[in-house]
Amino acid sequence: MLARRNPQLNAHGELIHLLSIEGLPRAILTQILDTAGTFLSVNDRDVKKVPLLRGKSVFNLFFENSTRTRTTFEIAAKRLSADVINLDIAKSSASKGESLLDTIANLSAMHADMFVVRHSESGAPYLIAKHCAPHVHVVNAGDGRHAHPTQGLLDMYTIRHYKKSFNELTVAIVGDIVHSRVARSDIHALTTLGVPEIRAVGPKTLVPGDLREMGVRVCHDMREGVKDADVIIMLRLQNERMSGAMLPSAGEYFKSYGLTEEILALAKPDAIVMHPGPINRGVEIDSRVADGPHSVILPQVTFGIAVRMAVMSILAGNDA
Ligand code: CP
Repeated sequence: MLARRNPQLNAHGELIHLLSIEGLPRAILTQILDTAGTFLSVNDRDVKKVPLLRGKSVFNLFFENSTRTRTTFEIAAKRLSADVINLDIAKSSASKGESLLDTIANLSAMHADMFVVRHSESGAPYLIAKHCAPHVHVVNAGDGRHAHPTQGLLDMYTIRHYKKSFNELTVAIVGDIVHSRVARSDIHALTTLGVPEIRAVGPKTLVPGDLREMGVRVCHDMREGVKDADVIIMLRLQNERMSGAMLPSAGEYFKSYGLTEEILALAKPDAIVMHPGPINRGVEIDSRVADGPHSVILPQVTFGIAVRMAVMSILAGNDA
């Protein structure tokens, strides 16, 4: 029997949709990171444009709120010279009961070339990729708690930028891992890129034990989790995805799992602190750390533009 083909890849193994980092070969991740490196300088030019997506229409479909991802996708598409359409979901006919696939069919009739999709339902971008025309590319901009592949890739770009290589690193991911699509994408990317020690740090209610099966070291003690880490990725408490009381209080949580200067001092002296945003100061991270010399939280956002340019240009160059 034939193995089921990865829906993100064409018959030549080239990327045609970006739905998840899981299952993507290391060569494709490296291709995206290397291509992003070539786009960084575009952001510093007087004329911040290259013509790679000229004449293409990119539709931003954000069914869930976003600041960083939506805006950097829009900037990235414009820097590639695409026409960008931001569908205002609150004012769209989705609010009148139109189904997701009917919305997609109508936007496809307007000659869409690429859909960038954020949705609260895990799997929504897969459904769209399955039903859209063969020439249309789909990029997952975060689906439920499942995946946020471009955040995972920009996190990898940031780590490679500051640490040069992946193969001797200890990376601690701290916080609400059970609800985090970023954690899942980061773990798949770090594993594929050869990081030898990945730690998931947080309370038992927020760190699934089955991560051990993915080779992740689970730590419920913050000091143990952060000790000698090269990279610390802090995560927000995703209260909107929590059902029932999973934590005593935000204050208690900060006491046990907040990243303070004192806790950061346990990591390597040149450790970097990352966070996908939005940050909640005084809940998962102290302001002195968020704004301090180890923080690379804002460079992550800047790198996100180049990484999203890389993803969109690679997809546009590959046929189904
Ligand atoms: N990191 C991230 O996804 O942020 P936004 O929700 O603001 O897009």
